Amino acid sequence: MNNHSIFKYLCYITYRIESIKLYITFPLGKPGFLRSQDLTISPHRLSILRPFYLFYNLFYMSTQSAVSQTDYFIDLENQYGAHNYHPLPVVLNKGKGVFVWDVEGKKYYDFLSAYSAVNQGHCHPKIIQSLIEQAQKLTLTSRAFHSEALSVFSEFITKYFGYDKVLPMNTGAEAVETALKLCRHWAYRVKKVEENKAKIIVCHGNFHGRTIGIISFSTDSTAKDDFGPFVTGFEEIPYNDLPALARALEDKNVAGFLVEPIQGEAGVKVPDEGYLSKASQYCRDANVLFIADEIQTGLSRTGKMLCCDHENVRPDILILGKALSGGAMPVSAVLADDEIMLTIKPGEHGSTYGGNPLACKIAVTALEILKEEKLSEKAEVMGNIFREELYKLNSPHIVQVRGKGLLNAIVIDHENENAAWDFCVALKENGLLAKPTHGDKIRFAPPLVITKEEILDCIQIIEKSLKVLD
Ligand SMILES: Cc1ncc(COP(=O)(O)O)c(C=O)c1O
Repeated sequence: MNNHSIFKYLCYITYRIESIKLYITFPLGKPGFLRSQDLTISPHRLSILRPFYLFYNLFYMSTQSAVSQTDYFIDLENQYGAHNYHPLPVVLNKGKGVFVWDVEGKKYYDFLSAYSAVNQGHCHPKIIQSLIEQAQKLTLTSRAFHSEALSVFSEFITKYFGYDKVLPMNTGAEAVETALKLCRHWAYRVKKVEENKAKIIVCHGNFHGRTIGIISFSTDSTAKDDFGPFVTGFEEIPYNDLPALARALEDKNVAGFLVEPIQGEAGVKVPDEGYLSKASQYCRDANVLFIADEIQTGLSRTGKMLCCDHENVRPDILILGKALSGGAMPVSAVLADDEIMLTIKPGEHGSTYGGNPLACKIAVTALEILKEEKLSEKAEVMGNIFREELYKLNSPHIVQVRGKGLLNAIVIDHENENAAWDFCVALKENGLLAKPTHGDKIRFAPPLVITKEEILDCIQIIEKSLKVLD
C-alpha cells in the first residue's frame, strides 16, 4: 500500500463513519462553522474544540474528492433505491454516440447499449431535436382524443414494416402483454377456440419482461420464485427444437407461438439456420399465430431491420420496443394485420401513455435514422469484424463466441465462478462497459454507430482485460 492509497483508505473510513451518521464527535454532522448553541457548551470549551473542528472540516473536504463521487452516488442509490438490480460499480452521467462518461469524467465504450435500446447511439442529435420540438408543443393527450403525432406515426410505422395496423404501448413488457391478449382474442373470435381454452406456446429460457403474466411462463427461477400464483394457458417447449414445436402444435387449442428470434437475455442463443422459417411455416399450417418478440433483436441490431428478415419470415404479430425510441423514452409497439388487430374493440385494451405525441414523434425519427445511417448494414459488417477479431484473440478463457450483427456474447470458462463479473470489472477499469448474463456469459452489444477503428480499440481493451483471468 503506498501513501496515496493509505490516505484514500483513511479517507474512506472517515467517509463511511460520516455516512452512517456517527455524529457524536461533531454534532453538526456536515462541516460548517461551529457555534456554541449547536453544542450547548461553554464558549471556553468551544474555543478548545474549534481547531479540531477546523481540522475535521478540512479532512472532510479532502475525503469528498478522495472517496470519489462514485461511492457517494452508489451509497445514495443503495440507501434509497430498491435493490432489484446488481449494477457494475460505475455511475454514469453523460452519453454521446458509442460513449458514456462517469461522474469522475472517465469515458467508456458502452457495450450494452441499455440492453440494445440505444442502437442509434446515445443522445442522437436528431432524436433529441425531435424530443425538444415535440416537448415544446404537446406531450400527452391520452387516447381519449386523437393526436396529429399518433396519426402520422401509425401510417409511418405500418408502412415501414408492412402491416395493416399498429398498437402503441410504452415498455417492452406491455407490448408483449398486448400481443398475448391479441392472440387470445384472435383465438376466440376468429379461430373459434373454446372459451378459456386458448394456449400459447413459449420457449425454455425465454425472456419477455417482468409482469406477472409474462413471468408466469418464465423458466428462470430468479424471475419467478415467490411471485406466484401464476397465469395459466402457456406451454413451454425447448428453444430451437422443431419436433417439439410440431408436437405442441397438434393441440387444436393452441393459438400462438411466442418466440425470440435470438434469445438475448439467455446469453445470445442463436437458433439453427432455418429454425425461424420452419417454425413460422409449422404455425401457418396449424392455423397458429407466429409471434416474434423483436424487442431486443429488432431494429437493425442483428444486421437486418428485423432478425426474422434473415430468414424472410413475416411474423403474424410483431413486437417492438427498446430502440424504437433510440433510448430517449419508453416506446413499444405491436404490429399485425386487420384480422388480428381488429379483434380488439374500444375499451378492451389501452394505456394512458401508449401512443403519446412525444413517443410518436421520437419513434418516427428513431426509425428514420436506422435507414438514413444504414445501421443494419453497419451492424452486419461490424459484427463480422468483431467476432473475427475475438476469435483471433484465441483466449483459453473464451470457450464460445456467438451472435449475429452486433448482438454478441462470449462464454467464459474459468474455475472461479465470479470470473465473468471480475472480467467485466476489468473491462470497466480499461474503459469498456459490459455486463454478465446468466453467470458465465457476457453480452457485447455496442451502439450500431460504432466504427471499425473503435471496434479494434475495443478488442485491445478486451485482450488486456482478459489478463485478469490468467
Ligand atoms: C426480448 C425481450 N422482450 C421483452 C423485454 C422487456 O422489455 P422492457 O424491459 O422494456 O419491459 C426485453 C427486455 O430486455 C427483452 O429483451
